[in-house]
Amino acid sequence: MRPVVLAYSFTGNNRLLAEALAGRIGCPLVEVVPRGKRWPISIALDLMFRRFPKIHPVSLPEHDHLLVIAPLWDRWIAHPMRSALKALGPAIGPYSFISLSGGVRPGQVAFVDEQLEQLTGQPPRNHWALYVEKLVPEEIRGTPKVSAYRVSPEELESYPELGEIVNWVRARP
Ligand SMILES: Cc1cc2nc3c(=O)[nH]c(=O)nc-3n(C[C@H](O)[C@H](O)[C@H](O)COP(=O)(O)O)c2cc1C
Repeated sequence: MRPVVLAYSFTGNNRLLAEALAGRIGCPLVEVVPRGKRWPISIALDLMFRRFPKIHPVSLPEHDHLLVIAPLWDRWIAHPMRSALKALGPAIGPYSFISLSGGVRPGQVAFVDEQLEQLTGQPPRNHWALYVEKLVPEEIRGTPKVSAYRVSPEELESYPELGEIVNWVRARP
């Protein structure tokens, strides 16, 4: 398998995950880069108006599987990644979706799969959902502090999904 990681991150958690995976797999990492400066209010506006923010064109090296990595906002795939997925459309080919998000909300995984299928015309081969809530003390679970939490490289190692994803890729030479 010749995968490529395509990632978007606003505050760094998904970038950390993307870099760790690309490093271990030994594959290229392509970042989705918005055209304009992004502020926290940009997320609220994206959500309010279901925006597809302008991004720099995504140029992918040759690959046969795309590992798409992005945070979730109010159960929506982060909007700059939605722009990238819409631009790729069915040309995306086989792909998997991975997110390091806050914590699961009712219907979240199915809703994300629905968005992926709407944007690309096909479901993901795999969907790995990693949650920050696994790391934080119980009293702050379900509070806004979860969204503000920055995962450290050491904490990232505690997610078994990291090894699972790498093994899944390696099992498909
Ligand atoms: C406005 C906002 C809404 C969010 N909504 C969700 C959500 O619905 N589900 C979820 O699992 N995480 C949610 N999160 C948490 C983020 O997905 C999480 O903090 C993620 O790790 C941030 O990724 P990044 O650092 O790569 O930008 C939300 C965060 C923000 C700021």
